[in-house]
Amino acid sequence: MPGRPRLLPTPSPDQLDLDTIVDIATGLAAADGLWRPHVDHDPVSRTSVRLVATPVYEVWLLGWSPGQRVELHDHGGANAAFVVVDGELDELTLGASGLRSRHLGTGDVGTVASGAIHDVVNRGTVEATSLHVYADPLRTMTFYDDHGTATFTEVVEEVPAIISSAVTGRALHPAARR
Ligand SMILES: [Fe+2]
Repeated sequence: MPGRPRLLPTPSPDQLDLDTIVDIATGLAAADGLWRPHVDHDPVSRTSVRLVATPVYEVWLLGWSPGQRVELHDHGGANAAFVVVDGELDELTLGASGLRSRHLGTGDVGTVASGAIHDVVNRGTVEATSLHVYADPLRTMTFYDDHGTATFTEVVEEVPAIISSAVTGRALHPAARR
């Protein structure tokens, strides 16, 4: 990858690993009564709803109309996992050998380790929806050009979550999914 010394935020001592946040993301995806009422799409720009916020992770619900994308970015020091819950998305990951593309259908899971650079795009013809878990909670996103050169860093605005973590905890309890 092109030389680009990056200073990522120091992760918290109790930062959740990728396996754990995949479990959270897939558990929430199965509890569709929690998030489906909040699904939204806008042909002009991607939609995002902060579903859940806890001190160690947060969950966002994103809506993608055809053609919409993020652009290459990292998640600061956060680990991330996401599940496609409606439609199809493509993930582009910038690695040592350049851009690698992966197609994700409904139910597929993507992971983004702290510091990794990726993009997500809806190349399909129908709307797509995805659930994203970030641990630590997302605070900054740095954007990159196709060569891996940072272009700007965005501070993620902290907005109230629409579902309390107590409700989510009950939904994710193994007994609640039977
Ligand atoms: Fe991302």
